[in-house]
Amino acid sequence: MRAIIKGGRSLEGSITLAGAKNAATKMMLASLLTDEPCILYNFPDIGDTEITAELCKKIGSTIDLRHGTLTIHTPEIKESRVLQLSRRNRLPILALGPLLIRAGEAEVPILGGDKIGPRPVDLHIEALKALGAEIEVTPESYRASAPKGLHGAEIAFAFPSVGATENALLASVRAKGKTVLRNAAMEPEIIDLIKMLQKMGAIIELGSDRTIYIEGVSHLHGTTHTILPDRNEAVSFACLAIATNGRIFVHGASQDHLITFLNVIRRLGGEYEVAPEGIAFSRKGALKPVHIETGTHPGYMTDWQQPLTVLLTQAEGMSTIHETIYEDRFGYTEDLNRMGARIEPAHGCINGICRFSGKTFNHSAKIYGSTPLSGTNMKIRDIRAGIAHVIAALVADGTSEIDGMEELDRGYEKIDERLRKLGADISRVKSA
Ligand code: EPU
Repeated sequence: MRAIIKGGRSLEGSITLAGAKNAATKMMLASLLTDEPCILYNFPDIGDTEITAELCKKIGSTIDLRHGTLTIHTPEIKESRVLQLSRRNRLPILALGPLLIRAGEAEVPILGGDKIGPRPVDLHIEALKALGAEIEVTPESYRASAPKGLHGAEIAFAFPSVGATENALLASVRAKGKTVLRNAAMEPEIIDLIKMLQKMGAIIELGSDRTIYIEGVSHLHGTTHTILPDRNEAVSFACLAIATNGRIFVHGASQDHLITFLNVIRRLGGEYEVAPEGIAFSRKGALKPVHIETGTHPGYMTDWQQPLTVLLTQAEGMSTIHETIYEDRFGYTEDLNRMGARIEPAHGCINGICRFSGKTFNHSAKIYGSTPLSGTNMKIRDIRAGIAHVIAALVADGTSEIDGMEELDRGYEKIDERLRKLGADISRVKSA
């Protein structure tokens, strides 16, 4: 699908956040741990939840999504070897733990997902092996069995990976004995997943220094849970408000999840007002440059660098971004440069050394502003690059055509309709 966007207008009004993509998909997989129904409120109707629904249905779940409420029920595991999926994201590997617990064996396809670097899964595999799984990696799949069942283990992650932490959680809550996860990721979406698991009957303690303690239980039951609002959407709409010199009230935006981002907004000269129901974003005057390093929570999230980069093309002076989470997440800046931006990606570290030091891929960027942007044709390469394209097109003079909108639809619910309510001139046609 292709979006046609006429830019140059300030966007004004109120927008309500959908439930967080990166929690909703994991919660669907958490529901596989019980034979009772789970009900998820504030459920986002997006491409990634559809892809995950296909996986769960093949496994044996019945799924009903109505008015933002998902009911998912897997009374029995019908298929623990799920290889044929029409589309893929990075979720199937997280089904291994629940399938091993309920069926003793599992096979899921090698991951798909965004093209933002090699994205190895060594930490997932090491954690599952420590918990007692035997895993064979074939050219198409991960094949796992647990002849003696899963058992507790002490796991120290070399890096606080979001996916590996979630994988270890899902595999250990019903394993025999105690598990300790050290150097675990503590993203708000992971805490929300833990809250759901706790309601299902799990025993999980949060320790200091990124440590999670899990006491395995033999049975989990169904539950209801309201998914936290999507903080990545919140940041996208905040950048959109400030970049277009408008004012947007982001209903559902939570200060708790955005403390690091709000500091950046204050430093660059954006304005925000926190209310009980959400946060309003606007601009005070000229924007100032900032220096950002992405990191695991509570650091500045990697999914927030793309919308911010568009904003920084409108700041007076040189800003820098050091991407320390993904190897290859600056590809979209080529398109912004074709629109008139001056962004220089480089492979050296910037303002400090990270684990990518000495590697040859671009993981830092200098952004020189302010530069007017003009409309052009672009193709989306991943979800967050996609929202950067859309924001840039809405800031730019003239018309832009953006191909690959289905990538954006994987993470942003009914995006065209919601942006139109803010005054955006956006329509969609089938790609040529
Ligand atoms: N990594 C390893 N080995 C592993 C796992 C990860 O080296 O076994 C590396 C990755 O290659 C990457 C880094 O660790 O360089 C971070 O990966 P992590 O596992 O933390 O991320 P993820 O689980 O693959 C999730 C989100 C991403 C988000 C990151 C960071 C989902 C489905 N995806 O990915 O979201 O950027 O955490 O917060 O939850 C998005 O929503 O657009 C998106 C890409």
